[in-house]
Amino acid sequence: MSVELPGGRGAAGREEFVELVAATGSRIAGLVSGSRHRPDPATFIGRGKLEEIAALVEEQAIGLVIFDHTLSPAQERNVERAVGTRVLDRNGLILDIFARRARSHEGKLQVELAQLKHLSTRLVRGWSHLERQRGGVGLRGPGETQLETDRRLLAGRVQQIERQIANVRRGRALNRARRQRNEVPVVALVGYTNAGKSTLFNTLSGSEVYAADRLFATLDTTLRQLPLPGIADAVMADTVGFVADLPHALVAAFRATLEEAVEADLLLVVYDAADPNNDEQRRAVREVLDEIGAEDRPVLLVANKVDLLERPPAPLLERDPNGVAERAWVSARSGAGLEPLRQAIAERLGGGLREARLTLPPQAGRLRARLHASEAVQEEAPSEAGGWELRVRMPAERLARLCREHQLPLESIERRAD
Ligand code: GTP
Repeated sequence: MSVELPGGRGAAGREEFVELVAATGSRIAGLVSGSRHRPDPATFIGRGKLEEIAALVEEQAIGLVIFDHTLSPAQERNVERAVGTRVLDRNGLILDIFARRARSHEGKLQVELAQLKHLSTRLVRGWSHLERQRGGVGLRGPGETQLETDRRLLAGRVQQIERQIANVRRGRALNRARRQRNEVPVVALVGYTNAGKSTLFNTLSGSEVYAADRLFATLDTTLRQLPLPGIADAVMADTVGFVADLPHALVAAFRATLEEAVEADLLLVVYDAADPNNDEQRRAVREVLDEIGAEDRPVLLVANKVDLLERPPAPLLERDPNGVAERAWVSARSGAGLEPLRQAIAERLGGGLREARLTLPPQAGRLRARLHASEAVQEEAPSEAGGWELRVRMPAERLARLCREHQLPLESIERRAD
């Protein structure tokens, strides 16, 4: 059931809804849509639509009606009663997808926590999954009703999971502290679900991480080493895919996996360049980043899937008027644009490009060759001392290190190119 409300996302929203439902593996019997000025307080949709759905349910023996909206527990109950089958709202739907995709211990814990919290507001019905854990006689306290027992068990389980998550997070914080001590920069991949983050993550790091043409294939932050030209390797984090209207409770529950994004030195905001809705998707990502406190992190846009574009842009790396790399056009699948992307990441992590005039002594031939190989040299002339005068343009940090290592005067840096 998808209802168009004023300011809604129209056909694009409905399309995504169908994809989300497909991601649960359900067979879709039909899509009912309608439009309203505002939701009905009791049932979200009106009587007419309720009857339409009830008839479909009856006719096709449908077992589940999914709403592309957040319903209050009372609305959900009322609709269930009216249509005669189980009803899932958008939050429940996304939680269900998350539950299927969670792979690590922490991911699973977080999904369960979010599900329990979601269920706790709907605790008036029988719900079978606690029954499994309750498993036997004597668990109900004296004088407790079934509902009170459920509440108590639920609260206990929530506490237990929260404790376990706190442990996992402590471990994560320790690792992060170690990385910071070693000055290992962190690059986090964020983006709309299905943008190609996992594929990019694999190709950039040369590792195998589960990538599938399904929404939300990635649920856990995964870390890998990212080899970069010219500067020391960075750590790259893959994160869960975003969706528009990510339920608030979920944002909170998934904060831990997004923490890498909040503290990353550089965010790669990956989007599908071939998707006509990518503007809106980038906006949704921006909103979530703001919500988790990552709004001031430096961003490099990565427009993925250029292989699907009729006319890919040239050059593949866009720079702002100051020369700072802003957007890389790539294809994680074909490999197009990956080297400029690596270069851009290196530059951005290295504090931008700097231009400098360097005077190399005659015995620095090897260094000169290295500078040429990394395409840092803009101009060259022989020096009076038999060496070379170079004008170079390269990542600031790398330049500073080079000057230190080879005892070249640091004053040679003329101006920041960024
Ligand atoms: P979530 O885990 O859902 O957040 O998705 P993701 O952003 O990690 O996307 P993933 O890497 O799983 O890729 C989604 C789909 O897009 C897969 O079918 C990929 O094979 C496909 N894909 C990724 N990159 C490219 C690309 O450059 N070109 C094309 N044509 N397809 C791509």
